[in-house]
Amino acid sequence: MSSGRTIVVGITGGIAAYKAVNIVRAFVLRGDSVHVVATTAALRFVGKPTLEAISRNPVHTDLYEGVAEVRHVAIGQSADLIVVAPATAHTIAKLACGLADDLLGNTILASTAPLVIAPAMHTEMWNNAATRANVQTLRERGVVVVGPGTGRLTGADSGAGRMEEPDTIVAAALAALAASDLAASDLAASDLAASDLAASDTAAAGVAGNLGDLRGKRIVISAGGTREPLDPVRFLGNRSSGKQGVALAEAAVARGASVVLVAANLEVPAPEQVDLRPVGTAAELDRAMSIAAVDADVVIMAAAVADYRPAEVRPEKIKKDDTGDTLMLTLVRNPDILAGLAAAKKPGQVVIGFAAETESDPDRLLTLGREKVARKGCDYLVLNRVGWTEGFASERNEVRVLDGRGDIVIEASGSKLSVAERILDLLR
Ligand code: CTP
Repeated sequence: MSSGRTIVVGITGGIAAYKAVNIVRAFVLRGDSVHVVATTAALRFVGKPTLEAISRNPVHTDLYEGVAEVRHVAIGQSADLIVVAPATAHTIAKLACGLADDLLGNTILASTAPLVIAPAMHTEMWNNAATRANVQTLRERGVVVVGPGTGRLTGADSGAGRMEEPDTIVAAALAALAASDLAASDLAASDLAASDLAASDTAAAGVAGNLGDLRGKRIVISAGGTREPLDPVRFLGNRSSGKQGVALAEAAVARGASVVLVAANLEVPAPEQVDLRPVGTAAELDRAMSIAAVDADVVIMAAAVADYRPAEVRPEKIKKDDTGDTLMLTLVRNPDILAGLAAAKKPGQVVIGFAAETESDPDRLLTLGREKVARKGCDYLVLNRVGWTEGFASERNEVRVLDGRGDIVIEASGSKLSVAERILDLLR
């Protein structure tokens, strides 16, 4: 990403406003043109002269100044990126409602640039149902929410609500800008059909909108389909391409998680940023997952695992002359890896399974899903229908996610990346 962009830093009225000076400075040092829009409350916490000296530009607050140059929309229209830090509970509520009663509100409403906010408030305010709903609304609109972190707050108390450190906010903001640049160039270069265009747009917005919310989480994902050898040249396998598991890995990496991808015979490339552990058989997958799960926060079994393997693997190619017109194979059960991982779950670890079912009746499908989640003992089960033409190699997916009690917590359809985003929303 090139430097020299136009960045609006919105500062609102919280103690953490003093830290916003470092955010402004970081952008200026990159060579960006930085325009500070501060609320009147913000200027009670940090001085205008400081912000003007550091940003090297006038600091704007008043909606009724600069009317001749239509400043209330001009600043937002010129922005490549808007960062609001700190974002108070009040400001978040205003943004969620689209209120424009001050210059910052107008600037944001008049802009199509990516918006990054860094909430800062006391724990009770952050946990308040109103704030949670407002933050959720903003996330759904593609706003990147950085933090808040946990730690010492303004008073003697500590907890969630502390504004993230300036360098974390700047990094997340630059990632959002890069993601938005990428989405714009992808869309410009692409000759996708209109429906595909809408799907990729949503997925790109989803990735940009959630950047960083899984930072610090260690996620182990299995993807693909296992192959059980019969002889040196043949195997028993399944049609899983690995696309949904890889989409989960891609989305998790983009959202800041560190990802181990246990990859069974993928038909699609694995993302570069994962710790890739290739496996072939169910036994290898079992071993790799058990090792990786030891220090994982989240375990996702998206791989299609062979339930049976040949009792005997022939050392030489099976020859027709030796077997005749029919061939009987004896198969033995493989362990249920997901059930094993769920049984060995550490406190706080989240285990997610998938269920591939061919049942066409939606109610019966749901019943099968409920039976499966109870049998496996996992925290969530992603239920999807598969068949001759659905599921495996397809670019799209349609799922219902059940929790451990069998209640539907998510219904999602769309590209595998957008479905992955919805599943990962469970983890933040
Ligand atoms: N799974 C597993 N080990 C197996 C079989 C499946 O860990 N031996 C996991 C899959 O990765 C998936 C979930 O269990 O997350 C459900 O897989 P699915 O094939 O839908 O179900 P099965 O357990 O095979 O049950 P059934 O044969 O009754 O459909």
